Amino acid sequence: SLMTTVSAPAKVILFGEHAVVYGEPALAVPVSQLRTTATLSAADQLTITATDMDETLVFTQADAAHPLVQMTTLTLRFLDALPPEVNITLRSTIPLGSGLGSGAAVSTALGRALALALGQTIPDVDLNALVYEVERIHHGTPSGIDNTVIVYERPVWFIRDSVLETLTIAQPFTLLIADTGQSALTHHAVTDVRTLVTSQPDAWQPVLAEIGEITRQARIAIESGANERLGDLANRNHALLQQLTVSSPALDHLVAAARQAGAAGAKLSGGGRGGNLIAFVTPDTADAVQKVLVAAGAVRVFQTVIQ
Ligand code: PMV
Repeated sequence: SLMTTVSAPAKVILFGEHAVVYGEPALAVPVSQLRTTATLSAADQLTITATDMDETLVFTQADAAHPLVQMTTLTLRFLDALPPEVNITLRSTIPLGSGLGSGAAVSTALGRALALALGQTIPDVDLNALVYEVERIHHGTPSGIDNTVIVYERPVWFIRDSVLETLTIAQPFTLLIADTGQSALTHHAVTDVRTLVTSQPDAWQPVLAEIGEITRQARIAIESGANERLGDLANRNHALLQQLTVSSPALDHLVAAARQAGAAGAKLSGGGRGGNLIAFVTPDTADAVQKVLVAAGAVRVFQTVIQ
């Protein structure tokens, strides 16, 4: 049958956030069960219906600064095409504004839908650049990790400005992703870290370097199936993020609750100050830790298997 739906996944950063802005590596994975989908239907002009954002945009009449319009404009320019006469309905199960990459997933799905409507395809390398361009307009100077994991839908070893490396997970592992329910702007946390690092580089460069070292060890563990090492690495990474001032009382409370309930380790994920944390669990401990996280105040807890 004719394919009329395309999609893109959520993402979660496992190790290395913030330090990645300063050239250290970060490790991130797609979360394939949370997705943004884009469905084509007939229309007499290009319209974009974003169901979960309660929006319908008629492309020719919409605000040029709107992220959906910017992605459309950049994509049509790349494809050297006029707006296709279709409606694109965007639906998303990715919570907005909680560091799971909802914005990049929406842009990715939209770019794919436009290409599909035009009977073309966009190579991932080019789609990644287009999505990054939209991220850059709205989030300052992002490292590019979100769009990369989401467009390629592969575990990624990410170093800023260097060639993409995907990772192979030797043994699947179970992760809980728990939302504090507190929204926080990543660019505020990134700006505050920049103030620390530039005012006292001698004090803070070693912290960034240690996060880089933990991330390298996590890669070795993941690629060799030594998943039992990940919990301790997560705990050490969280402590360094606390030092960088990007944790929060709610994150620390939930991280502690997860550890007490039997998680091998836990840490904040993404920009911090709110948003999500991740807990490394096993199939045996996952349900108990999930219950405790909800009881301790997490507004949403997902279980996912990284493979
Ligand atoms: O909040 P998120 O998931 O978009 O992640 C931000 C990650 C940072 O390293 C803090 C910033 C960046 O651009 O990499």
